[in-house]
Amino acid sequence: MADDSTTFPPPAELAANANFTKDMYDRAQADPLAFWTEQANRLSWATAPTQTLDESNPPFYKWYADGTLNAAYNCLDRHVEAGNGDRVAFYWEGDPGDTRTITYAQLTEEVCKAANALTELGVKSGDRVALYLPMIPEAVVAMLACARLGAMHVVVFAGFSADALAARINDCDCQVVITADGQYRRGKPAPLKAAVDKALEHTPGVRSTIVVQRTGEDVAMAEGRDVWWHDVVGRQSGEHKYEVFPAEHPLYVMYTSGSTGKPKGILHTTGGYLVGTSFTHWASFDLKAETDVFWTAADIGWVTGHSYLVYAPLVNGATSVMYEGTPDSPHQGRWWELIDKYKVSILYCAPTAIRTFMKWGEQVPAKYDLSSLRVLGSVGEPINPEAYLWYRHNIGHDNCPVVDTWWQTETGMHMIAPLPGIENGKPGAAMRPIPGTSIKVVNDEGHELTDDSTGYLIIDKPWPAMLRTLWGDDQRYVDTYWSRFPGKYFAGDGAKVDADGDIWLLGRVDDVMNVSGHRLSTTEIESALVGHPWVAESAVVGAADETTGQAIVAFVILRGGAADGIDADEVIQTLRTHVAQEISPIARPRQLMVVPELPKTRSGKIMRRLLRDLAENRELGDVTTLTDATVVTLIQDNMRK
Ligand code: PRX
Repeated sequence: MADDSTTFPPPAELAANANFTKDMYDRAQADPLAFWTEQANRLSWATAPTQTLDESNPPFYKWYADGTLNAAYNCLDRHVEAGNGDRVAFYWEGDPGDTRTITYAQLTEEVCKAANALTELGVKSGDRVALYLPMIPEAVVAMLACARLGAMHVVVFAGFSADALAARINDCDCQVVITADGQYRRGKPAPLKAAVDKALEHTPGVRSTIVVQRTGEDVAMAEGRDVWWHDVVGRQSGEHKYEVFPAEHPLYVMYTSGSTGKPKGILHTTGGYLVGTSFTHWASFDLKAETDVFWTAADIGWVTGHSYLVYAPLVNGATSVMYEGTPDSPHQGRWWELIDKYKVSILYCAPTAIRTFMKWGEQVPAKYDLSSLRVLGSVGEPINPEAYLWYRHNIGHDNCPVVDTWWQTETGMHMIAPLPGIENGKPGAAMRPIPGTSIKVVNDEGHELTDDSTGYLIIDKPWPAMLRTLWGDDQRYVDTYWSRFPGKYFAGDGAKVDADGDIWLLGRVDDVMNVSGHRLSTTEIESALVGHPWVAESAVVGAADETTGQAIVAFVILRGGAADGIDADEVIQTLRTHVAQEISPIARPRQLMVVPELPKTRSGKIMRRLLRDLAENRELGDVTTLTDATVVTLIQDNMRK
């Protein structure tokens, strides 16, 4: 078993040929701006930037502001022009087992066609286009077609409900929606367009819907609004003359949960985002674009899918695997079978997946040839040492560094990671700031902590892929991220720095939960619950869970008489399902308890810490600040029932 001081040095061969050297690291830390100036050369600019960082109006930083470029050109055409048109961009594996191999030349042509189709539908620079799609190649094509036109894509995870989709479409004022008739789940088709139809009842601004035919099931097509992808994209020319945009031109908005009920629209722009993501993809994973096969096992509906499934790998001219299905369909060895089939050399996934594989047993991956692997990535939540060691041993055969990458939707790019050629791996620690960034752990007063004590993670210098604001709400951007420690970016995570100077992440310190690497706000689920006619009040907490990291536990007070005569179990199941329908199945509480009271402080605040202790069956901490300490006994009695 590993303890806090266990470390694994990089494999000798990797260290000898690593992309990123210690010398480069030292130079980056000594002069970050010079470093980021140099990194801008990863991109093909129409006009090269002369200024790297504009700090004149903090926290509204600008990167490479006088440079101009086109994001899609950087992902596509330039590789074709360089003679790499035949290189595979994606090995796509569909859920029911259908496959496509898509080269850079083919992807470029498809994106040009889609850009022409969007233009025909009136989409232009600065517009917002919502994408609600399964993990099919058209999702990537649609994102890049938007980018090519300078329109922002707003990808909404296809597991989100119609209501969640409508809220995001309205907040961002999207005029066009791209979706599919249905999606496959464990080999079976499930409807998707129906949710869009429901959402569009509440989105007056949407004028067109483009529908990809994926499952072939019957869908209603609204006359004058809905068109088929194969019709409208199919008839276009594969040539498209792209325009160039300033580096700070918006690239996309991605919604994520904050500590209030209203999701935040994180705005990313073009130049800095592409520099930051492509650099980290190359350095954190030691990517060799000519020979590696890279697989980010994340959905495009999340930021990991945006940064490391779409933009960074394509800017870097890499070959990726894109997988539509689940890890256990049609069998529990599916991932390992795909690694064997495509000779994947870099795998990037979440600890929750690893813990699930641990439960299924090491005999499952042992049946496959995983010798192509050379780097293993982890993202989304702290990787516990047990999962780290299992991953390293059973998947990496003790020969692949485990690169734990800490970052956020807001940061756009990796911010903390052990660069595989130059840093040792330490199970459970995310290790060091990415070169050119500055990250610290501070106490309540903002003083730096380096003595293994717990504090808050802050980023005290701007970085290229940082969010630029929250869509339509500059003030919330300032308040949420830059006010707790004035002038510094507050990430919302607890952390510590150990005696070796390595950073350990300790989970969120706000009301945000992390369930299977997905960010969910307690308030959002509480609002969904009180939206049900039976519910008077609710409190939601994240409780430790062996597989999902955290699990949702809801405490609910019913309205007097509202659910009388209904079986207690039915009440619980109905309310759990209600949350799943209102938000998403990933938000369905693992446990829901009907209680007579909630523990509150004298100022009326719900004591979540106490509820967390109750949910995790822990000794209860201090209850003296409660208005009424008997509440706890009441809840415990109810839980026992
Ligand atoms: O709490 C941290 C956790 O996930 C949060 C960001 O969530 P999201 O924006 O959805 O992005 C997930 C994918 C980047 C962070 O505030 N988190 C993410 N990666 C790690 C992590 N916690 C610990 N270690 C990580 N490697």
